[in-house]
Amino acid sequence: KHCKLIGVPVQEGAGRLGCEMGPSSLRTAGLAAAITGLGHRLSDLGNLSAPPASQVHHPNPALKNLPEISAWVELLSQAAYDASAEGMPIFMGGDHSIAAGTVAGIARRAAETGRPLFMLWLDAHPDFHSLESTVSGNIHGTPVAYLTGQAGFGGGLPPLRATLDPKRVAMLGIRSVDPAERRALGHCGVSVFDMRAIDEHGIAPLLSRFLDRVTAENGLLHVSFDVDFLDPSIAPAVGTTVPGGATFREAHLVMEMLHDSGLVSSLDLVELNPFLDERGRTATLLVDLVASLLGRRVMDRPTWSF
Ligand code: ARG
Ligand code: MN
Ligand code: MN
Ligand code: MN
Repeated sequence: KHCKLIGVPVQEGAGRLGCEMGPSSLRTAGLAAAITGLGHRLSDLGNLSAPPASQVHHPNPALKNLPEISAWVELLSQAAYDASAEGMPIFMGGDHSIAAGTVAGIARRAAETGRPLFMLWLDAHPDFHSLESTVSGNIHGTPVAYLTGQAGFGGGLPPLRATLDPKRVAMLGIRSVDPAERRALGHCGVSVFDMRAIDEHGIAPLLSRFLDRVTAENGLLHVSFDVDFLDPSIAPAVGTTVPGGATFREAHLVMEMLHDSGLVSSLDLVELNPFLDERGRTATLLVDLVASLLGRRVMDRPTWSF
């Protein structure tokens, strides 16, 4: 594989400062060496720089930093489109608002190649607010609604050249949903595997059902990994911790299954807030999870069968 690291130091979409340090923290934790150590080719394309704010206005007075984020989305969608021509882009956020741009660009690329784009959203939150429904005003709570073409973004975020079919989106790890998001998700076709589903069925069968669909349709798969997918006890470096998250073992299992599927074509690593970390443990865990996604395993091959 040819992996491309792209640093996206955005923090204006989150409720508190610090995510802009995410790319540095991931580099310091050894992301590049972990990837090349597995035999992959790596290009670190550096960090993108903040574009000038866009001239946008939106009637919701709660919205924070919309002109800045809107400009980032525009920039990112072009950068992601370009980077996805070849190889596997890995976007190092930055808060989750960056997904509005990264996935928009990937979706445009997928539409041109004629292959359907699927997205796996690993997160405590569905991030399914519109610019109208958000209460916090933090734009990192809106990218999935934007990408799937829901109403309520006109005049705020750039128009999409290709939308993502909500039926091709699966969310895993969900445990904090606002009332407006619950209403909107109830009838749009997104598969929401919440913690209840994980506890009842286990994370593996839920994920393999989804991956089977991607395989059957010869799809591309974008994975958007929010640090708060993980339990706060193992991943404290995030501004929006929610108890009851994915365990160390569940998270690695997800990554190993994704590797074995051979389907992942692009990745976001978002919401890492190094200011809140403890001696780099969250960044280090993310690096190990990416390694699992890219083929690190305990044994080379199964040495057992039932
Ligand atoms: N739903 C909440 C909000 O709109 C939390 C969003 C958290 N999103 C995230 N990417 N961490 O503010
Ligand atoms: Mn946040
Ligand atoms: Mn998120
Ligand atoms: Mn989240």
